Amino acid sequence: MSEPALAFRHVSVRYEPGAAAILSGVSFSIAAGERIALLGLNGSGKTTLLKSAVGLVPHEGEIRVGDTVLARQTLPKIRERIGFLFNVPEDQILFPRVIDDVAFALVRQGRSRDEVSARATEVLNSLGIGHLAESPVHHLSHGQKQRVALAGALVAAPRLLLLDEPSAGLDPPGKNVLAHLLARLDAAMLIATHDIAFATRLCTRFIMLEGGRVAFDGTDTAEVLRRWE
Ligand SMILES: Nc1ncnc2c1ncn2[C@@H]1O[C@H](COP(=O)(O)OP(=O)(O)OP(=O)(O)O)[C@@H](O)[C@H]1O
Ligand SMILES: [Mg+2]
Repeated sequence: MSEPALAFRHVSVRYEPGAAAILSGVSFSIAAGERIALLGLNGSGKTTLLKSAVGLVPHEGEIRVGDTVLARQTLPKIRERIGFLFNVPEDQILFPRVIDDVAFALVRQGRSRDEVSARATEVLNSLGIGHLAESPVHHLSHGQKQRVALAGALVAAPRLLLLDEPSAGLDPPGKNVLAHLLARLDAAMLIATHDIAFATRLCTRFIMLEGGRVAFDGTDTAEVLRRWE
């Protein structure tokens, strides 16, 4: 069997030493190519969990991405393997022009100019925003920025995607495009969302957090819907 794309073993998170744990004893693993929805009420720890997997918050326990355990020394290698979508697109858009922002991960990998440009354009087109390539990011609507940020997360074709509320603020056609696009990828995905229709459409497994603990981890959609109400 191949290595899990992501594995948490007894992971706890405190934002400050000695403060209350925001995540407590969280364990799960995601197989290569598996799509999992991360559900839970406001403040249950979804964003914290996603951030812990890319070393943005300190953790206890073990987090493993593929064959690599997350630690200070392995952080650059781990971040290179993960496509991360922040909850707020402004938090991750770095460049003033759309195409430059989307291309950044490829430029950092030292790819050729032609390759970078072709791939960035391809991803923008696949998200229905090819026409915005030359636009200044600050002229875009929220939903357009959301798609630009997603394009940046997808551009280097990572094996693992961590997406924080990717459908939030998108119009219904935008959600459709996104669901189709993600369903076509073979990357593993952990998708934090309150959008249960989007989650059940795209994901085959559901992890539900309650107060920073895993309250449910399973594939039974009916059970998830029952708990959701
Ligand atoms: N930087 C921080 N410092 C201290 N506490 C924080 C910090 N960020 C988040 N928290 C706390 O961690 C808890 C979990 O927050 P988190 O953002 O992970 O929840 P969430 O499940 O993503 O919620 P939402 O559905 O509203 O996005 C909350 O109680 C929050 O106040
Ligand atoms: Mg959140």
